[in-house]
Amino acid sequence: MGKYRDNPEAIASLVGDDCVHRDVYLDEELFELEQDYLFARTWNYLCHDSQIPDRGDYFTATIAGRPLMAVRHTDGSVRVMMNRCAHKGAKLAPEERGNTGKFFRCPYHAWTFRTDGSLLSIPFKKGYEGTRLNECRAAKGLVTIDNVRNYRGFIFVRISDEGPDFDEYFGPVITSLDNMVDRAPEGEIEVAGGCLRFMHDCNWKMFVENLNDTMHPMIVHESAAGTARELWKDQPEDAPKPMIIQQLLPFVNDYQFFDAGGVRVFDNGHSYDGEKVSIHSHYSGLPEYDRAMEAAYGPERAREILTTVRHNTVLYPTMTSKCAIQAIRVARPISANRTLIESWTFRLKGAPEELLQRTQTYSRLINSPFSVVGHDDLHCYEAIQAGLLASGNEWISLHRDFDPAELDEPERLDNGTSEISMRNQFRAWRKFMTDGASRGQ
Ligand code: FES
Ligand SMILES: [Fe+2]
Repeated sequence: MGKYRDNPEAIASLVGDDCVHRDVYLDEELFELEQDYLFARTWNYLCHDSQIPDRGDYFTATIAGRPLMAVRHTDGSVRVMMNRCAHKGAKLAPEERGNTGKFFRCPYHAWTFRTDGSLLSIPFKKGYEGTRLNECRAAKGLVTIDNVRNYRGFIFVRISDEGPDFDEYFGPVITSLDNMVDRAPEGEIEVAGGCLRFMHDCNWKMFVENLNDTMHPMIVHESAAGTARELWKDQPEDAPKPMIIQQLLPFVNDYQFFDAGGVRVFDNGHSYDGEKVSIHSHYSGLPEYDRAMEAAYGPERAREILTTVRHNTVLYPTMTSKCAIQAIRVARPISANRTLIESWTFRLKGAPEELLQRTQTYSRLINSPFSVVGHDDLHCYEAIQAGLLASGNEWISLHRDFDPAELDEPERLDNGTSEISMRNQFRAWRKFMTDGASRGQ
């Protein structure tokens, strides 16, 4: 038995009010425990409704170390189950996505299962006559996940039967997803194109913490955004800026700009930055889109939706959204020092194509494997993962703008450069991890 299993005190000692111990990023045992204590007991994003529109469409993902699949059942509902044959365990859906027709057929011995997970047939069944198969779990078919929530098209799961209810868990932070969907004149969005994947040789928390870290852009992104500033500096004031320049320049805004944007934190580790102003605030208008929004919602509500310019929202622990640019990034933790980041781009139904082009430009520029911005973040995460192996200081400072009063405030708006969002994530981490360790599950 390791140092942390069934040991809530040892886990709690890793998270101080304003600092954390390096083991939270480095320790493989903690990573293993996170699968059951944190990821299985919280709500994690699986896929979008638009990715499985037709009967038999499926989408697979690994959450909490478990292979899962979401499938559109014959009755039109979305069912989620373990991607594991009830017989000897082969994965039934081999691809990331596809269509299985009316049933799944195992590639090994051809047991078949309906798209609600129930067992449909077993070849040459007489071999089971007189056996105890019917008393066994295998005869019940696939293991289904009961806690599934399709929130305006975003499909979340909670694998464990234990854990908070969806609405209670996310609380008001869910308005960031509302804002992304409300930005569609027709009130619906869909995934556009494929996934941009970016492998990170670092702990998943590095990425999630960085999303509301506004003390880094002007430093880390100086190389890309500073170059854009240099390129543009001799242009006349009124020269129309290409979208790439518009999107890159705000990364080198000064500390005062990011501080004024604000960061709001919520119970259970959630947060967003850019409540008042963000790097997405000053993109040039798209008159055709504005007209479509006004026609759909009326001028006042349309303005309210479009002036919500939150930068990054963390729907802790693994889902993150950028409502103002219509993209999400999902952390898929692989090991203590390896994390896959997926970026998905959305089309807003009823909006002109230029809006999607704006999102695609941003996704390529910032979040893709050939980004000129994301690599600089990645370099820093990996530098931390390597640097933490040093001896003499095992603690990470999260002191910036710490106020003891925040410990008693489940929701709080702070100045934008505060490290409160990271402290807030670790408080949630400590809560779920120690609770899991106390229950021994
Ligand atoms: S493992 Fe699936 S049918 Fe044998
Ligand atoms: Fe960054």
